[in-house]
Amino acid sequence: MAKKIIIKTELEVFESISELPSSIQNLMNKAHEARENAYAPYSHFKVGATLLLESGEIIPGNNQENAAYPSGLCAERVAIYHAGAVYPSQKIVSLAITARSLKKVITDPIPPCGACRQALVEYEIKQDSNIETYFMGESGKVIKASSIKDLLPLVFNKEYL
Ligand code: THU
Repeated sequence: MAKKIIIKTELEVFESISELPSSIQNLMNKAHEARENAYAPYSHFKVGATLLLESGEIIPGNNQENAAYPSGLCAERVAIYHAGAVYPSQKIVSLAITARSLKKVITDPIPPCGACRQALVEYEIKQDSNIETYFMGESGKVIKASSIKDLLPLVFNKEYL
């Protein structure tokens, strides 16, 4: 008989941004600001992502779309590649993500897509510490994952190469 593997993930749900620690409220507010600068003329779905570095610096990103659709990039990857390019030795402590659709009001927390989870976890492995991740819609509940690995339990990592 095949053995079963049970994978457990714990996430925290906050009723609103006001329940978050003040440094994370600030990080999320900066993500809301970054979100509004998204270039999303095709999906009309704007995403903002901000990274809090150990130095206290905040690195913003937002989605950048392209007429050749797959050439566009998600907010989370714009932010993390920006941090990797400018501060390659700084640890990333926290990530905040927010999304707003121009077609309907989003109150559900919007998690990072699968490709972004894979890109983000690379940096947790690189820096050997977790990136706590908070995500939300345009308003409403906020979900917190203590590590990207909680969102991507079976990580493909460099050890396999
Ligand atoms: N998008 C992000 O920026 N992050 C995600 O995690 C999911 C999707 C963007 C990509 C595209 O510009 C738009 O949202 C619709 O998919």
